[in-house]
Amino acid sequence: MRIRLAKHADAAQLAILSTQLGYPSTAAQIRGRFRLIHGDPSHAVAVAELPGGRLIGWIHVFVHIVLESERKAELGGLIVHEKFRGAGAGTKLLRWAEQWAKAHRLKSVYLRSNIIRKDAHAFYLKQGYRIVKTQYAFLKTLKSRRT
Ligand SMILES: CC(C)(COP(=O)(O)OP(=O)(O)OC[C@H]1O[C@@H](n2cnc3c(N)ncnc32)[C@H](O)[C@@H]1OP(=O)(O)O)[C@@H](O)C(=O)NCCC(=O)NCCS
Repeated sequence: MRIRLAKHADAAQLAILSTQLGYPSTAAQIRGRFRLIHGDPSHAVAVAELPGGRLIGWIHVFVHIVLESERKAELGGLIVHEKFRGAGAGTKLLRWAEQWAKAHRLKSVYLRSNIIRKDAHAFYLKQGYRIVKTQYAFLKTLKSRRT
């Protein structure tokens, strides 16, 4: 297995994995979002690829900037295909993101994880992460303006 940067041609496989993560997405949707990420140096997506080209996981890392605290790296998503878990792919992807963060002079990596993802929490704790807070996520859908 190797870790490499994602490319546009990966969209279909990234979509399958995103859907498995709980975010149903089509290849076209992923392609559109990836186009935005790919052109922005403060974001990166890496994939875990088996010999032969099958993708078994991806990670998205970006520079998190807010007014009130230091810049840090944030994980936008991490997923390993359910059939390939426990074989080290998640660790390799996380290490890749941490190296990316270091290369961008970021001193910490931050991530948010749904409280129902108990398995992922065990994984992150094992990887040296600690829980720093519990919070609600708020969302408001905006009405489109009539013309
Ligand atoms: C979390 C996830 C990315 C881990 O990937 P993975 O490839 O299975 O992890 P690894 O094989 O690298 O495991 C690394 C270590 O964590 C441990 N680990 C992994 N999953 C674990 C679990 N469910 N419970 C306890 N430990 C776990 C492994 O045993 C391993 O320990 P070891 O090195 O002592 O053997 C993967 O389980 C996944 O995709 N989960 C579903 C999506 C998800 O929740 N993503 C995170 C969103 S915040």
